[in-house]
Amino acid sequence: MALAQEQQRSKPLCDDRFADKGAFSRLDESDDSLFYATDRFVQHLDAVALATVEQLIGSLIWEEDPIILDLMAGWDSHIPGTLKPRRLVGLGLNENELAVNRALTERVIHDLNRDPRLPFPDGMFDVVLNTVSVDYMTRPVEVFREVGRIIRPGGLFLVVFSNRMFERKATKIWRESGEAERVDMVEEIFDLAEVFNKPSLFVSKGRPRPRDDKYAHLGIPSDPIYAVYADRTGGSGKKRSTPQPYASKFAPEELERRMADVKETLRCPHCDKRLRKWAVSQNPFCEWDTDFLYVCFNDECPYLVRGWEVMFKQGNRGLSYRFSYHHLRDRCMSIPVPTLHAGKDGIID
Ligand SMILES: C[S@@+](CC[C@H](N)C(=O)[O-])C[C@H]1O[C@@H](n2cnc3c(N)ncnc32)[C@H](O)[C@@H]1O
Repeated sequence: MALAQEQQRSKPLCDDRFADKGAFSRLDESDDSLFYATDRFVQHLDAVALATVEQLIGSLIWEEDPIILDLMAGWDSHIPGTLKPRRLVGLGLNENELAVNRALTERVIHDLNRDPRLPFPDGMFDVVLNTVSVDYMTRPVEVFREVGRIIRPGGLFLVVFSNRMFERKATKIWRESGEAERVDMVEEIFDLAEVFNKPSLFVSKGRPRPRDDKYAHLGIPSDPIYAVYADRTGGSGKKRSTPQPYASKFAPEELERRMADVKETLRCPHCDKRLRKWAVSQNPFCEWDTDFLYVCFNDECPYLVRGWEVMFKQGNRGLSYRFSYHHLRDRCMSIPVPTLHAGKDGIID
């Protein structure tokens, strides 16, 4: 959330929208167990996004041999191999999916929308995970409050989501919100549950989509990962760490040296790839004093990859930027891009 927005926030942003009677209605109001009776042995995210989720879970959980609940579990709990839970309980609606999930030590079938009370004693868990499923909760505040009850003080509740969904089962408020509003909404549910410390946000956007992914041809980056997480109040306050979404290859001094050398090297200072000659498109709204720029078209360049997240946090959703060099002015600049394909037809070398 932008800092200014955060500071201005004196009351929950979604208050009114939460109060709307139909906010948590769905296109398909039939019993959830009917929809989830169909086995879905599919991944709900691309491989890069899944790896990010695993990495995030691995780095946030510092507990040695935690007791974990995977709330709204399917056939994969995204637990990294380095983490050795003492118990991993999966709660979901599809028996076959839970049976295939080898990481689970216990399996519970329970419909949260029918009964948000969780069938576990107070303080039983060190960690509760909820992955790509919060969109389907019709009584989220009650569920979050229950999660607070079954987590020990200081235990972690991690809610991970992206931008894909089963439309007919997602709530109206979720469907009708943009990605940034969904982040606000989940933060607010944490607040309203009144049992957690102030939630933190992790965002990973703009990583290159795997080449063999079925949506790779669309030129969109990997599925975004948003994670809102907080500890149950009353813990030791030990800090949890998140992975660096996409660390730069070079130290700041090295980067500065590379920036100064671009004129000679014509290589991107951020990723060291050769800059490509790119014909600028002349139009009456943007007159250029050059026919071409040198641009980094490496889709894995950290400058571009981090740009999605930076722009998101600044409120410019759905944009990033590529590094470019104006040889006539000897100036480094950035050019905004809405997709990974954008501008590639202008490469002229
Ligand atoms: C998109 S899948 C995500 C599965 C898993 N968390 C993952 O990361 O792959 C949504 C899951 O939510 C569970 N679910 C949906 N509605 C539910 C409900 N009312 N009560 C309990 N679980 C539910 C389903 O069983 C399904 O496995």
